[in-house]
Amino acid sequence: MCGIIGIIGNAPVTPLLVDALKRLEYRGYDSAGVATLINGHIDRRRAEGKLVNLEARLRAEPLSGTIGIGHTRWATHGKPSERNAHPIATDRVAIVHNGIIENFQELKDELAAEGRRFESDTDTEAVAQLLTSYLERQMTPEAAMGKAMGRLRGAFALVAMFSGRHDILMGARRGSSLAVGHGDGEMYVGTDALALAPFTSRVTYLEDDDWVVLSSSGCTVYQGETKVERPEKKSGLSGALIGKGNHQHFMLKEIYEQPAVVGDTLQYYLDPATRTVRTPAMPFDWTDVSRLTMTGCGTAFYACMVAKYWFEKLARLPVEIEVASEFRYREPPLPEGGVCIAVSQSGETIDTLEAMRYAKSQKQILLSVTNVPESAIARFSHAVLPTLAGPEIGVASTKAFTTQLVVLLSAAIAAGRARGTLSRAEEERLALAMIELPARINETLNMEGDYRRIAENTLAAARDVLYLGRGSSFPVALEGALKLKELSYIHAEGYAGGEMKHGPIALIDDAVPVVVVAPSDSIFDKIASNFEQVRARGGKLVLLSDARGVAKLGAKAETSIAVPDIDPVVAPILYTVAVQLLAYYTALAKGTDIDQPRNLAKSVTVE
Ligand code: AGP
Repeated sequence: MCGIIGIIGNAPVTPLLVDALKRLEYRGYDSAGVATLINGHIDRRRAEGKLVNLEARLRAEPLSGTIGIGHTRWATHGKPSERNAHPIATDRVAIVHNGIIENFQELKDELAAEGRRFESDTDTEAVAQLLTSYLERQMTPEAAMGKAMGRLRGAFALVAMFSGRHDILMGARRGSSLAVGHGDGEMYVGTDALALAPFTSRVTYLEDDDWVVLSSSGCTVYQGETKVERPEKKSGLSGALIGKGNHQHFMLKEIYEQPAVVGDTLQYYLDPATRTVRTPAMPFDWTDVSRLTMTGCGTAFYACMVAKYWFEKLARLPVEIEVASEFRYREPPLPEGGVCIAVSQSGETIDTLEAMRYAKSQKQILLSVTNVPESAIARFSHAVLPTLAGPEIGVASTKAFTTQLVVLLSAAIAAGRARGTLSRAEEERLALAMIELPARINETLNMEGDYRRIAENTLAAARDVLYLGRGSSFPVALEGALKLKELSYIHAEGYAGGEMKHGPIALIDDAVPVVVVAPSDSIFDKIASNFEQVRARGGKLVLLSDARGVAKLGAKAETSIAVPDIDPVVAPILYTVAVQLLAYYTALAKGTDIDQPRNLAKSVTVE
């Protein structure tokens, strides 16, 4: 999704804008631009493609000024091009925007009827022209923004700079994050705390329907015509946090951070001395919960799938799961007093936020598992279960997913204890198994060469790959397939092992690698049957199991890897690291853009 930065300061602003946009590249984009005010006039430089193209444009045509706005665009309306790149401007105002103005066509028709001409195919230009029409009626920028907020429909975060006004920038948000940064004699406004990290850790998060006027010394926040107070908070981020270290890609760095961040999350949810789970205070009693609903998107939804096994097995609690984009429109009947858990790394995924809005309308108690405590989803929840993964820059989610699983397993154990379905001995056994995770993940990472060999020799040349798993390994198979396809662009499908014979078996031949996720658990013999069914048809089997499983089946596979032994309940977390490594090294072999795969965005804030 798009990245936004605005700076009103006292030094040359263009290099600062570009530096901030570099920190927003991880969000995914296909064009970029900056605009500044010079002697009261708006001037822009924009370029299609990556930031290097914008930097080349700026070297050829430098842009001065101490107030400016910048944008990385992930195209929604209008294809990626310089013409559609932000900032979108008229002679009176320049705008950068994230989200979708749903009534843009109605506004464009109205403004065109006034004789206004549009130069781009974007929805954003409707905002620029609307503000311009108000300014031409002698409205102040403040009055124009306040009036425009009443006309705009949809989800948006936007920043505006006005010709002749070196003293102000304005911002507005509805359903898409925007934050203000406080400097010394400078003020900043950006998509999130990460965008502001290079300049300040003093951050004010805007709420939905806030609009803000920034001067170089401070900001005033409004809801409609009313001034409102929003607290200044200290962001835990620093500019240094978001380097790649000595890794080639952010994704690999974040895969390797997993022992540490899984350990940090375990420390938060486990008391190692008493080997008991501890979660933040819940606004309900697990014994009163008749059904649990869980929702999320993509990888976050697969965390819900794994957690369903845990809550139903350990807490005997019925769980309904649904991808957020379906959940909200299916409008399922939900029991009053039920609990809905939303899982989201960014905390800004619009489908997940809207699914929560539906659940709230059905009187559900809302929990969120998120990596960004100040996010819209966190702030919409009755309680937050934080993951302590730290900023995840790689578009493909890795450490966020494994820490989500640690949080959800901890919550399932806490629910089981509260509901009397989990004995003290069981809780202690599971706590010990979880405490082993960082070491077992490290051991898996130490085998990266084996994963790389399989990726290069067996997966990289494939056109189609099938991932099979059963029980709580089925969501791991789905996640493995998602990682492979989003990183290497190879078509991959995850399937429940038992379902393979009901159709996908037709795909099997010696050109289709089949990755079988098979820890030695209670249904190992069942996945072993599926393994044999693939083998009987000449499928190219890649076995991910522990030493016992490899001893039983390894000789019959094209290739196999012994994942370190671990308790089957905790196995999905460890086997996730295995499928992450396969996907990473396959993408590396194929030379794709691993940290910013084509068409993908890190946080999907549009429907
Ligand atoms: C993960 O690798 C994907 N990039 C994507 O599926 C992601 O998990 C999904 O968009 C949900 O994002 P969220 O966790 O920030 O809500």
